[in-house]
Amino acid sequence: MNFPVWELEMGTPLLIAIVAILHVYVSHFAIGGGLFLVVMEHYANRKDDRHLRNYLITHSRFFALVTLVFGAISGVGIWFVIGLSSPAATSSLIHLFVWVWAIEWALFIVEIAAAIVYYMTWDRVSRRTHLAVGWVYFIAAFLSLVVINGILAFMLTPGEWLASGNFWDAFFNPTYWPSTLARTAICIGLAGIYALFTGVFVKHAATRARIIRLAGLWALAGTILAVPALYWYHGLLPAGAAELFAGGMPAAALAARVLVWGGIALAVILLAPIIFPKNFGPGSAITFALVALTLFGASEWIRESVRKPWVIVDYMYGNGLRPAEAEAMSTGDGILANAVWVQERPAAATTATGREIFRLACRSCHTLDGYRGLTDRLGGLDEDYIYESVARLEHMVGAMPAFPGSDVERRALARYLAQESGTTLPMLDGAEVFSKRCGFCHSQSGFRALDGSLEGYAHDELLELFPELAEMIEEMPPWSGTEDEARMLADFIQSWYAVAGEEEEN
Ligand code: HEC
Ligand code: HEC
Repeated sequence: MNFPVWELEMGTPLLIAIVAILHVYVSHFAIGGGLFLVVMEHYANRKDDRHLRNYLITHSRFFALVTLVFGAISGVGIWFVIGLSSPAATSSLIHLFVWVWAIEWALFIVEIAAAIVYYMTWDRVSRRTHLAVGWVYFIAAFLSLVVINGILAFMLTPGEWLASGNFWDAFFNPTYWPSTLARTAICIGLAGIYALFTGVFVKHAATRARIIRLAGLWALAGTILAVPALYWYHGLLPAGAAELFAGGMPAAALAARVLVWGGIALAVILLAPIIFPKNFGPGSAITFALVALTLFGASEWIRESVRKPWVIVDYMYGNGLRPAEAEAMSTGDGILANAVWVQERPAAATTATGREIFRLACRSCHTLDGYRGLTDRLGGLDEDYIYESVARLEHMVGAMPAFPGSDVERRALARYLAQESGTTLPMLDGAEVFSKRCGFCHSQSGFRALDGSLEGYAHDELLELFPELAEMIEEMPPWSGTEDEARMLADFIQSWYAVAGEEEEN
């Protein structure tokens, strides 16, 4: 709590996701595309193929523009955004990996210089020299991946480092090798995908077909190599990840399904440019690029999601607090007493205090009514219920850290959120009551499913059950709904079985 809070309207997680995903699209192409260029140049030289060389010259212009200009800007963009939105985590990573960052920047300078020389010196220096420059570029680019990936993998699986504090344990952490392999595969695949895109514009028909076939082979090779790498990686994810995939984080579970089925589909459709290169036009190239980039984006999204509630697993929560700090705050004098950049102090159960608490404890992941907005989800709930729910964040979907504040801060937050969300809005139907009073922690048949345990309850038995539940299970907030809400909820729960019964009869 030593840093100011950046209250971005759209929500910083969304901005980070956008900038980071655009950046990885380009940074991985910068590596795979570099390899593609030098390998193809070798091949063109050996066959003395003028047409292929001409294509490579054009492709290298596209390559230089995309990687140097967009890659550099988005890379700086990431620093800017993570520094402002997660200053505590960024500071930890800089302190731990200071030499790694320095090496990465040195490599990046070599990369830029080599890429510019490579692009400018086609047919101006000997073929040998030109190729040598290309290799310098590729090796520097690949090494920058090898280096940066240590930090990215560390955030998800810090492994032995947590106990030893040893730099090498942090760098060569449990997912280091599988993720390096997976990223290398993705680099190769993306090189093919982008080359399909530039290949379709080649005028000479025979060359065009040859490039499309070769590019298709690169893309397919990368996709196939990614499968064992991701499978290996998946097996090493932190323990909580399986629960998130099982529905604890609906968006991650969906992304995982998209990734698996989409990957299979991509491998199959990539046979098209390989077998029928002549029929492959710009429309197909764009479609293939969209599919591949969506899948790659999904895999990055998943990596970020399964890290929750942590920003560095088992070391720092997404809200920037270390577990010991959070514990000391919630059992001691609370958040505000320990936060540097606040206006409201000492804490009182007012909405002004609640707003400060929201900024400090929730704003790193939620907005009020934009990305992961809370007002929609809380609208219609009473202040007491929100107060009780905040005490149980760690049991809800989304793998949230426990609330780090004191009791009066929790009351203030509930008051503020209730005011912003509108407690007087009546709930429309049983589905809404379920989603707001049970759905933060349960679903009908997915995550912590209720359809099994509530089957066979009569309507009035359900009405009796709701107020008793919290007495039996302390993870559940006490029932505080109105009689109307209870009736709607009971109707809704019974409708699950009514539908199933009708289906059986049919
Ligand atoms: C580390 C990130 C993080 C922090 C910090 C965090 N949340 Fe969450 N929260 C999530 C995620 C992720 C979800 C799941 C929502 C989704 O997948 O759309 C969630 C879900 C919720 C839900 C349930 C919504 C639903 O759709 O079922 C509520 C209510 C909520 N959060 C309130 C809070 C409050 C209040 C705070 C601050 C005290 C807070 N959260 C802090 C990440 C966080
Ligand atoms: C803040 C989270 C939370 C909320 C909100 C919540 N529950 Fe639960 N509930 C739990 C947890 C945790 C358990 C323990 C069982 C488990 O771990 O699967 C549980 C258990 C139960 C059980 C026991 C049997 C079973 O299937 O596990 C029932 C029945 C149940 N909940 C119904 C409800 C209903 C109905 C609502 C809405 C009125 C509700 N719960 C709201 C967290 C919650």
